[in-house]
Amino acid sequence: MIRFDHRNLLSNPYLKTAIRPSRVLDYADKVYSAREELAKDRHSGTLGFYDLPEQDISHITEFVQKIDPQFQTMVVLGIGGSALGNKAIYNALKTEAELKRKVLVYDNVDPVFLHEILAEINLETTLFNVITKSGGTAETMSAYMILLDLLMRKFPQDYNKRMIITTDKEKGFLRKIADTGGYASFTVPGNVGGRFSVLSDVGLLSSAFAGVDIAAMLKGAADMRELCNNKDVLRNPAYLNGILHFLYMREGKNISVMMPYSNSLYDFADWYRQLWAESLGKRFDLKGREIFVGQTPVKALGTTDQHSQIQLYTEGPNDKVLTFLTVERFHHDYIIPDLHPELEDISYLAGKKLSELLNAERLGTEIALCKAERPNCNLIFPELNAYNLGAAIMMYEIQTVFTGKLLNINPLDQPGVETGKIATFALMGKKGYDKEREEISRFNKQ
Ligand code: PA5
Repeated sequence: MIRFDHRNLLSNPYLKTAIRPSRVLDYADKVYSAREELAKDRHSGTLGFYDLPEQDISHITEFVQKIDPQFQTMVVLGIGGSALGNKAIYNALKTEAELKRKVLVYDNVDPVFLHEILAEINLETTLFNVITKSGGTAETMSAYMILLDLLMRKFPQDYNKRMIITTDKEKGFLRKIADTGGYASFTVPGNVGGRFSVLSDVGLLSSAFAGVDIAAMLKGAADMRELCNNKDVLRNPAYLNGILHFLYMREGKNISVMMPYSNSLYDFADWYRQLWAESLGKRFDLKGREIFVGQTPVKALGTTDQHSQIQLYTEGPNDKVLTFLTVERFHHDYIIPDLHPELEDISYLAGKKLSELLNAERLGTEIALCKAERPNCNLIFPELNAYNLGAAIMMYEIQTVFTGKLLNINPLDQPGVETGKIATFALMGKKGYDKEREEISRFNKQ
């Protein structure tokens, strides 16, 4: 199981400015009511992600078992919560869990990116999985239309066996297409928001296709949920990390850096970026008062960004909370050979594992940050596997809704995204957006 090392946020006397446990305990009432409210929300069915570990996954495993072995690649067409989890899981496990089949994610409207994906795949052996909860997202629907057209022209007999549709169970026009067009289809549960949906069909299908042990991933999530049920905030990883980030935010630490010391976990940091940003970045509180809260998530990569970002993190503005992601045991590792025993400057590296150097550098960075009074913590993965990844996903999802309660905002909506979406509809000529079109032309004339 993953471990949350919070000593450099909470108790380490080495950091004079670290928050003390007594300060966290001062918030016992607030934590209690956040917990009660979450329980109420769960009961009323608005926090469906909590219950995903118990879902029946036989429709996924049976579907994957029956996939024609000729299909060796799945391209996911989706964006935001309908894409990032797929990338995070696949890229975390593809090498360490030796996944057999490939997953690519097209999550933009960039023609060059699409061209690159089409150049990389063999259309003959590729399945496309279009994922959109609403069914109306311009980015995803444009990709769906381009790819479906391509498949229809190349495979007129069985194009619909090469595309899978994952969308709402009932709502949206894509559901109708899925149900009438002979496509295999999967469901985004109504009570699970996009960025909380990775452990639903949204992230499980591509994972199972690649060969991820999805049952183990859900078990990891269930076990973490159990740990995060602890009433003692100091022993509840999601609550503790949530309240510490909340308290540091109050001290002006408005940036949360996630820095995996593992290329495999870099996309996990990207998944976290969306979860933390879109859920907590809000203008209004639940009473409609303007509060402009949130903490800007940033991703960095160890050790690469030690040579790019760490100077700023240790000596620049003290406005960040840093989270390292550490892997203890790598399945693939190298021993550094003793090529130059006569050169003291590099011979100290000889005989050491590459992972040893990696984790020593991480600890070195942690020490440097502590010396500079920069709060930081470490999420430790004993190894990269499906179980640990499921646990990390559940921890951050619970932490996010809990922190939303502390901030007194709604972590499940994203009203700030709408304005840009509406402007795009108007610019692209969508019916019903004449007023916005006029406003945009006035804006462009300024
Ligand atoms: O978290 C969210 O709700 C969003 O990021 C959505 O996942 C994203 O906008 C894509 O939406 P949809 O799945 O409806 O295409």
